[in-house]
Amino acid sequence: MRSHYCGHLTEENIDQEVTLSGWVHRRRDHGGVIFVDLRDRTGISQIVFDPDIPEMFMQAERIRNEYVLQVKGKVRQRPEGTENPEMATGQVEILALEINVLNASETPPFQLDDDDVSEEHRLRYRYIDLRRPEMQQRLMIRSKITRLLRNYLDDNEFLDIETPILTKATPEGARDYLVPSRTHQGEFFALPQSPQLFKQLLMMSGMDRYYQVCRCFRDEDLRADRQPEFTQLDIETSFMNEDQLMSMMEDMMRNVFAKVLEQQLPNPFPRMTHAEAMERYGSDKPDLRIDLELVEVADVLTEVDFKVFSGPAKDPDSRVTALRIPEGSKLTRKLIDEYTKYVSIYGAKGLAYIKVNDKSAGREGLQSPIVKFIPDDALTTILERTGAEDGDLIFFGADKTKVVNEALGALRVKVAQDMGLVKHGWQPLWVVDFPMFEYDEGEKRWTALHHPFTAPNTDSPQELMDNPGESLSVAYDMVLNGTELGGGSVRIHKQDMQKTVFKLLGIDDQEARDKFGFLLDALKYGCPPHAGIAFGLDRLVMLMTGSSSIREVMAFPKTQSAACLLTSAPSEANPAQLKELGIKKREIITEKLADS
Ligand code: AMO
Ligand code: AMP
Repeated sequence: MRSHYCGHLTEENIDQEVTLSGWVHRRRDHGGVIFVDLRDRTGISQIVFDPDIPEMFMQAERIRNEYVLQVKGKVRQRPEGTENPEMATGQVEILALEINVLNASETPPFQLDDDDVSEEHRLRYRYIDLRRPEMQQRLMIRSKITRLLRNYLDDNEFLDIETPILTKATPEGARDYLVPSRTHQGEFFALPQSPQLFKQLLMMSGMDRYYQVCRCFRDEDLRADRQPEFTQLDIETSFMNEDQLMSMMEDMMRNVFAKVLEQQLPNPFPRMTHAEAMERYGSDKPDLRIDLELVEVADVLTEVDFKVFSGPAKDPDSRVTALRIPEGSKLTRKLIDEYTKYVSIYGAKGLAYIKVNDKSAGREGLQSPIVKFIPDDALTTILERTGAEDGDLIFFGADKTKVVNEALGALRVKVAQDMGLVKHGWQPLWVVDFPMFEYDEGEKRWTALHHPFTAPNTDSPQELMDNPGESLSVAYDMVLNGTELGGGSVRIHKQDMQKTVFKLLGIDDQEARDKFGFLLDALKYGCPPHAGIAFGLDRLVMLMTGSSSIREVMAFPKTQSAACLLTSAPSEANPAQLKELGIKKREIITEKLADS
């Protein structure tokens, strides 16, 4: 139905007769001559309807936006002065000779070039929203990125293998989506949070190198970079150690960035331990485009007459840090109050600060509600360590380490964004040497920082048992510009170590057998050393297209409340279906009564 795409016509096509098919992007009536911008995936061509061909002209008068047309016409140079250098096809136009209205359109719910449409509206009419050139561009880049990643892995002997969607729970730390079984009434499948265990089993099956572009399902609180179903580029290898795998994965990313964006990423990517990332940036995914750093000042504040500081300064589970903001003394009281409110989201009880007006004037040159509590020598050390200059401001965080890290880690990024302190470019980073376990104060037990199949950096189960809190894992996260792009680890490949880790996580033998019996069995029959990683494909595309959320790079995403506005899913199941599944709905009202 076409000889050319709309976006591909150039001066080389002048005098050719062409057939285009597409949507009416815009129709303009210019004193007798009608112009139609015809749009398809590749771009826009300008069609001219001349009153000299009256039956054509009459048809053109009835055309409205988003009609689907097939147009036959002759390509010609645009008259001088009417060229559009912004458009790829801006030098030419097509004089219409024949027109075929393939379909009419009602007035669309919003104009494609309207930037003010609410996201709700866009998601409800996603098929219209996806017609917008920028959305088409994003999905085309996504397709290209996926193709290049696949090509790279194919070239490196990886096998593309599918794994089940109806399966057993996989522990990645989120809630499961459950699917009731009709044939086993009262029993459920879980949708995979990741193919973690299957890819390990594939290594035990001798597949050697596996990848899959796969859907994962996690029922968790959503954010800009989280969706309940999302896509991973999932990878597992046998007989590769962490350095070999990390270097191959970097190479893959360098390759994709060079081919899609013509950007050279560093070789090798820098590496930082988890401990250093937390200490300097308060985050396990630091954005290295921002130079601001947290500086430890607890040691000079243990004896000050200000409990907000001296308490945490003396407590080994707390920290007191300073964050220097260059030229921050221009921040108004109102802004500082806003930042104080911002850090309170992370549990911070306040946000002390010092404005450095004139260092040479000693404490007189410092402006702050708390400076009166801090002795001269401590002030001097704080100024020295932070490197503060006249005109700067220093923020302080004093609390449990977790609270300070989260609060000041987030503040660091927020202030940098607000003050234009985020540098341009790409800053990849490997974060390594994660702790093996984290202590959950609420539940009073150890939890796995990655997942329970991650190898510790010791071969001795006893050593791990003796000191779980200090143990590190052989895990690695790839971070790019402050976003966690991917994470992986060397896996446990011996049964005794796997059992020890389950035991430390409070999973007793019976539970281990119930949940992971198949894995424990498989470990007995010649399991090779193996390691892998999974990348969030949506996040990678989000970063590479400069999008603000992963929803912008997914064709049919869900809302923040995990619903699909287009199809109105989730929705009620009909009673016959429920009966067949052996499921009876509890009345919400009874549930409420029972709860109260
Ligand atoms: P992890 O849970 O770290 O590891 O997930 C890997 C990567 O997937 C992306 N990601 C998400 N993207 C969008 N929405 C979500 N809800 C979401 N959750 C995670 C992130 C993350 O880095 N099986 C292990 C990997 C392994 O050990 O090989 C796993 O799934 O970019
Ligand atoms: P207050 O004594 O509560 O009036 O606090 C004095 C100053 O310390 C105020 O600027 C508070 O914002 C700040 N502040 C209070 N708690 C903390 C904290 N945990 N960390 C950092 N600053 C704090």
